Amino acid sequence: MAPTLYLSPQAEDRQSAAPGTDLQNEKGSSFPAKRNRLYVIIQKELRLITMQRNILCAFVITVCCCQCAPSPTDAGDRTADLMIPERFEASVEPIQPIAAEQDLPAAIVALGRKLYHDTQLSGTQKLSCATCHPVDGPGMVPAIIAPLRNSRGSRSPSRYNVPTIFNVGEHFAYFWNGRAQSLEKVIQISIQAENIMDGTWRIILERLASDPGYSNEVANAYPDTGLTEENVVNALATYLRSLTTPNAAFDRWLNGENLSENAKEGYRLFKSYGCIRCHQGAGVGGNMYASFRSYLESREPQRNTDYGRYNVTKDEAHRYQLKVPSLRNVAVTAPYFHDGSAISLSDAVEAMAQHQLGRSLTRTENNQIVSFLESLTGWRENALLSESP
Ligand code: HEC
Ligand code: HEC
Repeated sequence: MAPTLYLSPQAEDRQSAAPGTDLQNEKGSSFPAKRNRLYVIIQKELRLITMQRNILCAFVITVCCCQCAPSPTDAGDRTADLMIPERFEASVEPIQPIAAEQDLPAAIVALGRKLYHDTQLSGTQKLSCATCHPVDGPGMVPAIIAPLRNSRGSRSPSRYNVPTIFNVGEHFAYFWNGRAQSLEKVIQISIQAENIMDGTWRIILERLASDPGYSNEVANAYPDTGLTEENVVNALATYLRSLTTPNAAFDRWLNGENLSENAKEGYRLFKSYGCIRCHQGAGVGGNMYASFRSYLESREPQRNTDYGRYNVTKDEAHRYQLKVPSLRNVAVTAPYFHDGSAISLSDAVEAMAQHQLGRSLTRTENNQIVSFLESLTGWRENALLSESP
């Protein structure tokens, strides 16, 4: 504020006592009397502006405080309405970027990578983990794999969609029905299950011990304990933890870069319509169970695998509950759902909106949400993940 325009209270008094006489400002310089009225008007204007500015400041401070406090779910909507700068918005988002750096023992990761691609781990010596979860593609094959035989030895008619292997390190449970609580457990099941690798530990360890290709790697990774079942599982699990896909366009936006308007609008809808309730965190899912009852009950015939977590706990309340899948890289992992029943991403989004949220999306909204989901495709080995190996 320009100091020469400031009139002290005394000056005001004098002005009202003797209109038309010269006034002095605080610095002692005098104003011509005929311009007094103008200065008083300017002064009032300035007071008003100061007051407005204070109110504005108080408002901004209140808004900022509110932004720090609320639950992540509704914070996003409000930030969008108030047009808070994007960088600020990013810090309160319910989705976090995937860490670009990892701190895993390199020698163990290297051994794990070799085991992951080794067909000696399977009964027929024809399958490796990479056969169904290729890491030079989307981390899965678009095939529906028959589940385990049940205890009577018969196969159930249901089928499981192969999930992607990328970013599985942080999931809270594994398999569509959550029957494994750790990666180590998944690996044990995958190696031994009849319809997956159908392997036997004794035979696998014999094969690996007589394979000279492993001696260096094993010595580097486990110098004291050598080749044991536990170490093979540990090496595979460590390798799986290394399979992250950072740098997605959405993550770069969270870190302050630009994102297409369509994807941003899709993300706004994803939050305001409530998809975020189940799909959040760094994995955009993979951290809770949820029921898919409305969709699954609407189909005939029902399959054993549709019962989800009920098959694990036998608790009626868990019937139709499935692990909420991570939506990282979802644009390149078609088909969708535990049984692959949604062929395109747009179909999956529509089914979710209708059955999980009771909403029908317009074509534009569906496209915008798909754009947002496409922005979750990450990078691996300096390349954007692709649909095929
Ligand atoms: C024949 C194909 C096939 C092979 C080989 C295979 N998997 Fe899988 N994998 C699947 C299927 C199908 C599922 C989902 C099964 C379910 O949910 O019940 C799955 C699920 C997983 C999951 C859980 C992912 C999640 O999001 O819950 C992990 C981790 C995994 N496999 C790792 C491995 C590893 C490690 C190997 C090698 C030891 C392996 N798989 C071999 C087909 C295969
Ligand atoms: C009440 C929890 C819940 C809400 C809300 C929800 N989802 Fe899902 N979502 C799930 C579950 C559970 C599955 C797995 C269903 C299955 O496998 O049959 C899933 C699967 C998906 C898939 C398929 C992923 C894959 O790899 O197969 C997509 C895509 C998806 N959801 C997007 C959305 C979108 C978009 C919204 C909002 C319109 C939404 N979800 C709202 C729980 C939810």
